[in-house]
Amino acid sequence: MSEKPRLTVLGTGYLGATHAICMAVLGYEVLGIDTDEAKVAALADGRVPFYEPGLPEMLRKALDSGRLRFSTDIAEAAAFGDIHFVCVGTPQAKGSPAADLTYVDQVVSTLAVHLTRRCLVVGKSTVPVGTADRLTEMLHTLSPAGTEVELAWNPEFLREGFAVEDTMRPDRLVFGVSSPWALSQLESAFAPLLEASVPVVVTDLPTAELVKVAANSFLATKISFINAMAEVCESTGADVQQLAESLSYDPRIGGRFLRPGLGFGGGCLPKDIRAFIHRAEELGVGQAVSFLREVDAINQRRRQRTVDLVRSQAGGSLAGVTVCALGAAFKPDSDDIRDAPALDVARLLVAEGAIVRVYDPQAMENARRAYPDLHYAPSVAEAAEGAHVVALLTEWDQFRELDPNWLGEIVAVRAIVDGRHALDPTTWRTAAWDYRALGRAA
Ligand code: UGA
Repeated sequence: MSEKPRLTVLGTGYLGATHAICMAVLGYEVLGIDTDEAKVAALADGRVPFYEPGLPEMLRKALDSGRLRFSTDIAEAAAFGDIHFVCVGTPQAKGSPAADLTYVDQVVSTLAVHLTRRCLVVGKSTVPVGTADRLTEMLHTLSPAGTEVELAWNPEFLREGFAVEDTMRPDRLVFGVSSPWALSQLESAFAPLLEASVPVVVTDLPTAELVKVAANSFLATKISFINAMAEVCESTGADVQQLAESLSYDPRIGGRFLRPGLGFGGGCLPKDIRAFIHRAEELGVGQAVSFLREVDAINQRRRQRTVDLVRSQAGGSLAGVTVCALGAAFKPDSDDIRDAPALDVARLLVAEGAIVRVYDPQAMENARRAYPDLHYAPSVAEAAEGAHVVALLTEWDQFRELDPNWLGEIVAVRAIVDGRHALDPTTWRTAAWDYRALGRAA
């Protein structure tokens, strides 16, 4: 094999598109594969089909280098690639907490039948522990090259909104391998990052699978911990923001992922903790992670509690009350609305009779497609026109920087619920706003 292995990336969603683009920029020949012809056409044409800061510029650079191509033909991928990265989604299964592995199984089995020479298949998708063993079996059985085809696991820790940075300069790399050859392949695939001294953990397949769900479980637990403290603050008059700040100075605790508020959403944390509980129960160790049920429950309660606070700001009833809902995406710098707390709150408000106008800088199209019954406004000003309560539900910079006097002239009543602890209460109260946030005294 030449010094630089040729790479394929199977699945060009969030994770796959970013990986394919960044690897091409790092100097590798990359072929991105997806079954979605529209997505393949968009990427080949230089358009990123979702909102991710910095990625369109990287795509342009990768395409201009001539090292990046996209196709729907998986047989072409098998012929081209020395290393095949599996980057398809593993969403929550319908009607079950388990992960749906249909796409992973489909792509691995379809690729396998075309593999006629020695190569490495590398799983990046988030999967229940034990999946890699099953996929190894599948590859060996279905591939003409048989046991010449090896499987490795290389979990991905990128965050939406920071996808490029997290891929080009990751905190760490985890290589789950079952042979020295597989390790040497991964080392050549990530040579530029290894040269940049990114820490690497070399381990077995089940550990590599587990690292990812353990990391997301820890992050979810940290967020729910501070939100549990917020609930206690709410009944004691204590201030969760100052509590969090005081905790954050202890380097053993740290301040990141300790921001109280509306809680976590998105396509990863919620479904990953549920799939982990499910898998642990299958393995007979459900008790070990049963606390994650509580983590999930605390997180879900934030949405109802935010609605309770908006209702209280409206004077006890939401019927006929106009609410300006700022934010729809599950977090800022993303247009992703999967399990978005903001949209859950908007829908709960509507269910209680409120007239809700939603504005988000990037996620309007996705929100409208998923929830066509909500009202959408094309700007903050139009969403706020005549509102009785403003609810800040996603902490975009645009909302953090709002001038309370300007907004005060547009709304009917200067009442705001800061669902993300994103605003300075003193500034808003000085501008005659009735400012409320969960876990902070009125
Ligand atoms: C998460 C992990 O952070 C990534 O490391 C991982 O690779 C990714 O899932 C994945 O599994 O693919 P992401 O879903 O992009 O990344 O979003 P995060 O930045 O983790 O935020 C998750 C949610 O937690 C957001 O809704 C955010 O608003 C919320 N959050 C975050 C809080 O409520 N408080 C905090 O202090 C931090």
